[in-house]
Amino acid sequence: MSKIELIITDNYDEMSQKASEIFIDLLKRKPNAVLGLATGSTPIGLYKKLIEKTKKKEISFKEVITYNLDEYCDIPKNHEQSYFTFMNENFFKHIDIKKINTHIPNGEGNSKFNAENYENDLQKIKIDLQLLGIGSNGHIGFNEPGTDFDIGVHEVQLTENTIKDNARFFNNDINKVPKKAITMGIRNILEADTIILLASGANKAKAIKSVMSGVIDKNVPASALNKHKGKVFVIVDKEAASQI
Ligand code: PGA
Repeated sequence: MSKIELIITDNYDEMSQKASEIFIDLLKRKPNAVLGLATGSTPIGLYKKLIEKTKKKEISFKEVITYNLDEYCDIPKNHEQSYFTFMNENFFKHIDIKKINTHIPNGEGNSKFNAENYENDLQKIKIDLQLLGIGSNGHIGFNEPGTDFDIGVHEVQLTENTIKDNARFFNNDINKVPKKAITMGIRNILEADTIILLASGANKAKAIKSVMSGVIDKNVPASALNKHKGKVFVIVDKEAASQI
């Protein structure tokens, strides 16, 4: 069985609230924390709660350093669907973080070079708290099923499943969804001190069931969290927990 701490909440708002409490607790203890951040619909509620707390001056990101999980390749950094734009719009521009302290993999230009650079950056730091969403296929970051758990930052070809899932952000046109991305590897993710995985909705239920079974399976990348030496929280709403 998994030693992951599972927290099941009534709804998306409560899931976001629980996650925000863990972030707030860390920021109060360690104002210069290093955070690993994620994009997607799931963390938006959490980001809103952290923005509110920052506006009320209960927390500050002045000394915080962030590293994002992933970025699309083949679209410019300032594209409206790039993760660079997502992070600015949904989080960074609303808080008191220094832009120089925010890091997102570079999806423009030579991916091999960009992946090596990001890997080198990550080797110089230790992430205190890594936030993750999960794909309906069990991916974390853009580590698609079958990915070797031991690799670091790398370029990936997105699976059909992920391209379909993400088409909603590209006018439901799968041809507009980038086919490649650059992502932290599972090895990088497992180097974080504490990990929080969030999931909301019935389409995540099967993936969450596999993670919580405790069986480590390359075809369910998130199941690698069962190997983590530190603390792992899986915070899910009732729908995402419905198959456990
Ligand atoms: P979502 O994506 O939060 O938009 O569902 C999660 C993921 O694919 O990692």
